[in-house]
Amino acid sequence: MRKILVTGAAGFIGANFVYYILKNFKDDQVIAFDKLTYSGNLANLKECEGDKRYSFIQGDITEKKDLQNAITDQITHIVHFAAESHVDRSITGPEEFIHTNVIGTFRILERIRELKWTEQGGKKMLHVSTDEVYGTLGSEGFFTEETCFQPNSPYSASKASSDHFVRSYFHTYGLPVVTTNCSNNYGPYQFPEKLIPLMTINALLGKPLPVYGKGDNIRDWLHVEDHCSAIETVLAKGKTGETYAIGGRSERTNMDIVNQICAIMDELHPEGKPHSSLITYVKDRLGHDFRYAIDCSKTENELGWKQKHTFEEGLRQTVEWYLANQKWWESILSGEYKDYYKKQYGN
Ligand code: NAD
Ligand code: DAU
Repeated sequence: MRKILVTGAAGFIGANFVYYILKNFKDDQVIAFDKLTYSGNLANLKECEGDKRYSFIQGDITEKKDLQNAITDQITHIVHFAAESHVDRSITGPEEFIHTNVIGTFRILERIRELKWTEQGGKKMLHVSTDEVYGTLGSEGFFTEETCFQPNSPYSASKASSDHFVRSYFHTYGLPVVTTNCSNNYGPYQFPEKLIPLMTINALLGKPLPVYGKGDNIRDWLHVEDHCSAIETVLAKGKTGETYAIGGRSERTNMDIVNQICAIMDELHPEGKPHSSLITYVKDRLGHDFRYAIDCSKTENELGWKQKHTFEEGLRQTVEWYLANQKWWESILSGEYKDYYKKQYGN
């Protein structure tokens, strides 16, 4: 029986991962750990409440005491999601990214070093990272596990630094750690500051759809449930000390995504038709990476992972989720998000 501590469990991917484990692995216990920052939301974990295999601890990964309380000898696995995750916020306020993403990851590594974690002892930590550590691509080529790190934003620099610490704790202390580097996720419970929920909610509210630059930047999209299944596969079968690249083989320009959302909204919410009239080109993101694309052959061939969702079906399902869960995002929109939105997009 695994006792899995999930850091950042009240965030978008963390919460989806908690559901994934409870649904598919009946013998496992999940301890959700989260500071509940602006993007952490206990409402994301509501459906686990009452499950005896689930518990929640409010705590901060940068605080030694919180980690000593949560990472006890009984914990067998850690899946580390907790982070500051939004590139635009890292551009206006980088310090918190260094504190959480670098120091926080370092503190977790120190805690498992203190407990003398070994693979033979049945322990494993999976560090969840991003493809943004590799920098940007031109119109050709793919990122793989061999690609050199060239982080371009304060967010990706902080994640790259945390990846290096994880690597160094394997090489220096032999800790049982593994890292995944994934492309853009989408799906239920994603915080409204990110492209897909932001465009969906704004379209429903009849507000401008702010496209950075010309909208020709490219991202590689993966449904969050497929990211969760990849993480579980790496947790179970990944080789200690290695990294695994995860992607959706679904490259789309931002304009393509926004146009697809508008078309789905025209069908599901015809009163606002045509939603494409709301598209507004705004000032580009500073240092905006042009293209991300992952070649995930290693994860597929060595570990047998395969994604299930196609992008078009997954996007429609996601837009439907946001339409059906208006209360969830309305309560976010009325809080701290209001000030963030004003600073980022003006009026
Ligand atoms: P998110 O912002 O939705 O969630 C982050 C969670 O971490 C929140 O619940 C927050 O409260 C928690 N947290 C922040 N600081 C903390 C601290 N000091 N102590 C404890 N908890 C803290 O982010 P997400 O999109 O779910 O991303 C999760 C992880 O996956 C991040 O590490 C991110 O870098 C990585 N990742 C995200 C994507 C993506 O497309 N969203 C893709 C690849 C990798
Ligand atoms: O690639 C993985 C990364 O994907 C993760 O590591 C990050 O945590 C996650 O936030 C995401 O980063 P991006 O910067 O790619 O995601 P975001 O949703 O912020 O933006 C996606 C694209 O859409 C990007 O090219 C910028 C553009 N964009 C975004 C917003 C919020 C717009 O054009 N307008 C917007 O308002």
